[in-house]
Amino acid sequence: MSYENILSEFKNGITTISINRPKKLNALNKATIQELHDAFDEADKNPETKAIIITGSGEKAFVAGADISEFADFSVEEGGKLAAKGQDLLFNFVENLSTPVIAAVNGFALGGGLELAMACHFRIASNNAKMGLPETSLGVIPGYGGTQRLPQLVGKGRAMEMVMTAGMIDANQALHYGLVNHVVELDELVSFAEKIASKIMRNSSVAIAEAIRAINANYKDGVNGFDIEVEAFGNCFGTEDFTEGTTAFLEKRKADFPGK
Ligand code: COA
Repeated sequence: MSYENILSEFKNGITTISINRPKKLNALNKATIQELHDAFDEADKNPETKAIIITGSGEKAFVAGADISEFADFSVEEGGKLAAKGQDLLFNFVENLSTPVIAAVNGFALGGGLELAMACHFRIASNNAKMGLPETSLGVIPGYGGTQRLPQLVGKGRAMEMVMTAGMIDANQALHYGLVNHVVELDELVSFAEKIASKIMRNSSVAIAEAIRAINANYKDGVNGFDIEVEAFGNCFGTEDFTEGTTAFLEKRKADFPGK
């Protein structure tokens, strides 16, 4: 599939999606959100894709937020719809994918940009990265899951401060907060993400999909995560990957998972 606002490249089991509007600091307009949905969907449905990396084009920004020019004159109803549609199409969609998604944060990740990074399964950042939820400085609040995922990742007090001050934190502060897992030089960011992806790819993709589902269950209202874990654990016993993994261990060889 070809896209106007993003690039998607498949190599060695990894699909790398780059948001490609560098002149607008990769701000998320409607078209980009739709294209991201399509690219994530396509990658997730491709059994050859074992991990997805999302990053921004250029050296300045991952994503500098939702495209402010698109919603500046919205009504109450339109504002609500914008948030609901975005959450559905991209942010919740990414969080619930069965393929691991790594955010490689290469500069500004603000508003919708940080919200996109937070919807990914985990994040690494370049040392020039700056992260924040500046929405209250525009008279609005984060609407793509930021008020929910930021406290999950950094704790309620830090999330409250970040949202109320609308300030930015640098990569080291984000590391200290647990918002990102690693900080590396900008020119090593994608290769570092690929290294982690290659480690992931050695393991059973069906087990990883069940693990993502079980971990996410902890954050869903009305769902008992322990029950989901029991069910997901049981499911693994019916897979070819489980047979291969346990057989390989007993035969003292490396597992070669069929991913089924
Ligand atoms: N929506 C729409 N356009 C945006 C944007 C956004 N969220 N963020 C940046 N841009 C555009 C700018 O309007 C500018 O476009 P122009 O060249 O046509 O005027 C271009 O990207 C470059 O941005 P600029 O502000 O000139 O870069 P800078 O280095 O001076 O500042 C930022 C960088 C990130 C501090 C600044 O762009 C900014 O504050 N962006 C908005 C962040 C935000 O509030 N995001 C949350 C939205 S809900």
